[in-house]
Amino acid sequence: MVRAPAGGPAADVLVIGGGIIGLVTAWRAAQRGLRVAVADPEPGGGAAQVAAGMLAAVTELHYGEQTLLGLNLASAARYPDFARELTEATGQDLGYRASGTLAVALDADDRAHLRELHALQEQSGLSSQWLSGRECRRLEPMLAPGVRGGLRVDGDHQVDPRRLAAALLRACEDAGVAFHRQGARRLTVVRERATGLVLDDGTALAGDRVVLAAGSRSGRLDGVPEEVRPPVRPVKGQVLRLTVPRARAPFLSRTVRAVVRGSQVYLVPRESGELVVGATSEEQGWDTTVTAGGVYELLRDAHELVPGLTELPLTETRAGLRPASPDNAPLLGPTALPGLLLATGHHRNGVLLTPVTGDVLAHALVTGELPAEARAFSPQRFRTALTEQPV
Ligand code: GLY
Repeated sequence: MVRAPAGGPAADVLVIGGGIIGLVTAWRAAQRGLRVAVADPEPGGGAAQVAAGMLAAVTELHYGEQTLLGLNLASAARYPDFARELTEATGQDLGYRASGTLAVALDADDRAHLRELHALQEQSGLSSQWLSGRECRRLEPMLAPGVRGGLRVDGDHQVDPRRLAAALLRACEDAGVAFHRQGARRLTVVRERATGLVLDDGTALAGDRVVLAAGSRSGRLDGVPEEVRPPVRPVKGQVLRLTVPRARAPFLSRTVRAVVRGSQVYLVPRESGELVVGATSEEQGWDTTVTAGGVYELLRDAHELVPGLTELPLTETRAGLRPASPDNAPLLGPTALPGLLLATGHHRNGVLLTPVTGDVLAHALVTGELPAEARAFSPQRFRTALTEQPV
């Protein structure tokens, strides 16, 4: 069955994947007057159900990622208005909290690492403040006595990704986005143009444009020609959720993070009492098993940072898959295959990049062009690298 009227495709835009990136794309496109449909067996699910929701443009800055920093900062700057608009549209609170972040060091190696991060932040014109161990503990009294110093970053905030996903789903439904609660089995390509997709039950959907926003699975869709297949792989993250009893609140007042023995650990306190502890970073393919080792390492490192944490109830353990690209930056916009666009590869920054991704994809869908802030993230950058290989 092909669901298309004789006059043309049933949808202007078919979005493959109903995680936060697919949903924000669908919402923004529908707001621009496009007829949008989303294919996903569980819209509102995906990696956002696991993510901690740090909006950490400054504390997650890495050498060689200054271009990505520009996009991260652009999206962070949009968050207050984005959250307000989404809350007004849906009546749902996103748990957006402008509470800041404290990155601390537990030993001399960690302190050297943080000093380097501080220097890189200063070179990049970012605002952060070096604190002594005592100043860190004055801000967060639950920190271990051995904390040797830290970086206070008042501009790195948080949002609750589960609330974000639920609100985006609601906003899409209210904006008239159609949902097909099934997986996409195959992209349909006719005369070198993407023209739709086939769902798992064999139903064919026609669309003028198709946006592939399937997170870590974006590279696995059948029917996508090899030269435009997104080079996205899964990077596993195990995450724990604890609960701070009301009598012990506020346990922490901002996100606290550190690098312990080379691994990132962060603690994200929500107003609801939830305390999210993350995350491992594992190249394990499609495995989403929560392992004893993963839980042990997270609790061991978090306990070194905040010893009182081991008294809290452990309420959830879960693993998700980050969609990683070769340069850790997202793939946004038109591909070399007419009709096919990408919104994937957000790796560690999917929640942070949600507002800017929606704006960029809506712009690309309406105008056919990427806006200036997103040109460096065209999927074509990988194609160019491929075709420029010496033969
Ligand atoms: N951005 C945090 C993480 O990916 O673990």
